[in-house]
Amino acid sequence: MAESNTDTKSSNQMWGGRFASGPDAIMEEINASIGFDKKLFAQDIRGSVAHATMLAHQGIISAEDKDKIVHGLNTILSEIEGGNFEFSRRLEDIHMNIEARLATLIGPAAGRLHTARSRNDQVALDFRLWVKEELEKTERMLTSLIAAFLDRAEEHAESVMPGFTHLQTAQPVTFGHHCMAYVEMFGRDRSRVRHAIEHLDESPIGAAALAGTGYPIDRHMTAKALGFREPTRNSIDTVSDRDFAIEFLSIAAIAGMHLSRLAEEIVIWSTPQFGFVRLSDAFSTGSSIMPQKKNPDAAELVRAKTGRINGSLVALLTIMKGLPLAYSKDMQEDKEQVFDAAESLELAIAAMTGMVRDMTVNTARMKAAAGSGYSTATDLADWLVREAGLPFRDAHHVTGRAVALAESKGCDLAELALSDLQAIHSDITDKVYDVLTVEASVASRKSFGGTAPSEVRKQIAFWRARN
Ligand code: ARG
Repeated sequence: MAESNTDTKSSNQMWGGRFASGPDAIMEEINASIGFDKKLFAQDIRGSVAHATMLAHQGIISAEDKDKIVHGLNTILSEIEGGNFEFSRRLEDIHMNIEARLATLIGPAAGRLHTARSRNDQVALDFRLWVKEELEKTERMLTSLIAAFLDRAEEHAESVMPGFTHLQTAQPVTFGHHCMAYVEMFGRDRSRVRHAIEHLDESPIGAAALAGTGYPIDRHMTAKALGFREPTRNSIDTVSDRDFAIEFLSIAAIAGMHLSRLAEEIVIWSTPQFGFVRLSDAFSTGSSIMPQKKNPDAAELVRAKTGRINGSLVALLTIMKGLPLAYSKDMQEDKEQVFDAAESLELAIAAMTGMVRDMTVNTARMKAAAGSGYSTATDLADWLVREAGLPFRDAHHVTGRAVALAESKGCDLAELALSDLQAIHSDITDKVYDVLTVEASVASRKSFGGTAPSEVRKQIAFWRARN
């Protein structure tokens, strides 16, 4: 950390008119955001080009000044992109770093760029543009993840696995059906992303400090030039609002929660005890001491990144919750939360897409597990309802006795002798064995959205048409 400094330094060249001396070193350090908001350089320059063009079009600045400004801004863009730009903490943030460089490059015309605007609407614009691009990227990434799941679901529409509740074997399902559960989740996440893009698709520039401006600006023109649907409608709200960032974080937190549940399943499935899947070498790591190990580190890190994303959401909600309208400097702390969460989310989706694409599914292990734990007990109960006319509650009781008997004999339901079953209920016939296999069990669950391969294929077709 910088040391405290009470020396009188020259005052800030951008806003220091009424200041006799420069800031204390600690003031400079706590105030500066350039360390992270330099990420917004491209958005800042795009916004300034659109603003200057509009100012000239409206006769607020001359065409010559506008040309100089636009030319200078393009030079700065290549300087930054080429790594030839010196960012200065004394100039606080990306907005003032760029404007100061513009003044060096083109002289006094640079001073006209900030006419009819404030850093308050400028930062709202830059950050919105950044979040919008990030949402669009997230949408594309979710589409690839969904595509990876659709391929696996198609391949495994008939592969039987145990379905769980309470992580206890419940009923047989197909692996394709389980994959499609994630398609539904990530499909909802993607539609949340699309709604968020719609919500934030309004241009903040021209709200100025908070009250709008007396200059005859054209906010519809800048909105159009920057690819927004329309300008925002309330200048106070415009510079106060960070909902768009919080909405991004909420969506990231929900998607992260889905990714983390999947990560947890992969961690469980890839243990030797389960052995349902084997991760590719590309998405696992070894142990430095135990040569036999293959660890699901990527899945574990996806699970952990979700914790980080949740932290960012809570941080920004807490930063914003006590602020009176309009802008307060607290809001400068919005960016690191969003940048960090965006990086975590991108990594998590990409790693998950890779794991899902590459993992080897052990269908034999899944099928063996599907048949254990009396997973077809419900099928026996349903058979008693259907074929013997029992009320479901009674059928449940009869089946419970059959399970207890099988358990005492150490065998599966299908291995009980007919005479044993008939001793429990005399209406049972040998037809019952048809429903006690896992294949028959899944094939029978043809209700809409059910696990029968025919149903799963319908849902795959539904999503293929939408992906
Ligand atoms: N760096 C600031 C931020 O990120 C820019 C806006 C500053 N506005 C102001 N009135 N000081 O929020």
